[in-house]
Amino acid sequence: MYERYWKEMGEKTTLVISGWQSISYFSDLTNLCWFLEPSFADSVLRLHKLVGNAVTQDRHIVVGTGSTQLFQAALYALCPPNGSEPMSVVSAAPYYSSYPLMTDFLKSGLYKWGGDAHRFSKDNNNNNRRPYIEIVTSPNNPDGSTRRAVVNRIDGILVHDLAYYWPQYTPITSPADHDLMLFTVSKSTGHAGTRIGWALVKDKEVAKKMTKFIELNTIGVSKDSQLRAAKILQAVADSCDRGGVGSPEEGQATFFEYSHNLMAKRWNQLRAAVEKSQLFNLPEFPCGFCKFSAQSFQSQPAFAWLKCEGEMEDCESLLRRWRILSRGGKHFGDTPKYVRISMLPRDQIFHLFTHRLSTIQS
Ligand SMILES: Cc1ncc(COP(=O)(O)O)c(C=O)c1O
Repeated sequence: MYERYWKEMGEKTTLVISGWQSISYFSDLTNLCWFLEPSFADSVLRLHKLVGNAVTQDRHIVVGTGSTQLFQAALYALCPPNGSEPMSVVSAAPYYSSYPLMTDFLKSGLYKWGGDAHRFSKDNNNNNRRPYIEIVTSPNNPDGSTRRAVVNRIDGILVHDLAYYWPQYTPITSPADHDLMLFTVSKSTGHAGTRIGWALVKDKEVAKKMTKFIELNTIGVSKDSQLRAAKILQAVADSCDRGGVGSPEEGQATFFEYSHNLMAKRWNQLRAAVEKSQLFNLPEFPCGFCKFSAQSFQSQPAFAWLKCEGEMEDCESLLRRWRILSRGGKHFGDTPKYVRISMLPRDQIFHLFTHRLSTIQS
């Protein structure tokens, strides 16, 4: 979906790295995260300040090979090394389907997947209080809901995955102010293949341990990728400074205007197709005031959490018969009545998808 915008930006985001540049393992030995490129850190701080979606003051930035690596680094860093039992890692269903897979892949003795946070909360009463880490994803993948922690125990540890807390997807109501927040260029700018994410971490010791994990895992994070991500994030921030009413380049949409408008168009198109078919249901989202764009709108998430109405039990199989590929609800800790569909493919695929969906009859 983002490809067209970046094509239109042309040379503004071209980066040339000569053979002699960024050779060393090291980026900044004065920084706790010694492989963090200063220009990448600057671009992260600039963009958060501009968008107002996260508090960066008194936070350590840890860069990762996607927020996927940072998720694993966070689990390693947050678990006591000598705990009597593995920490339970929980998240409210429907949750991002990779969380259980990433958590249990290496069969760590430090942590294990604990499933749906609602169920964990019920099962862990006063007599049975297992230690836990809750992943709070807001807006959530797959259903786009705005979320808060659900277990709410004083001894609980939270990780906030804010991959989608950007103004093309949801109103920015206040700067997120949590102990450990994860972001990624995959969802903010569309550069999933660059494999760059960042964590904003309050606690110095946690940030140090996350850095240690990445040191042992991959001896740092690609400098080439960090430099490219810095260029892209600076271009996004430049577009916001330049664009908009009254600016020298008035009329040119900023990155967030462009992507917000495209998401709005796609959600309208999807809702029209769903209405035409009458076999499906989509979540409704409350209206919120976005402090960044100074307008009220409903969330328009990167995924549609589509429900098959009526007798239909397996929505994924039904859609496959109509040549639509989706991911069934079971992967997300929910029933097969639901599927997750990406709202971010290229135009042609998205048009084909909504056309096919609108023609499905009972
Ligand atoms: C909630 C959430 N977190 C993390 C990721 C992975 O991000 P990255 O590409 O930065 O590893 C995704 C990708 O779909 C996601 O939906």
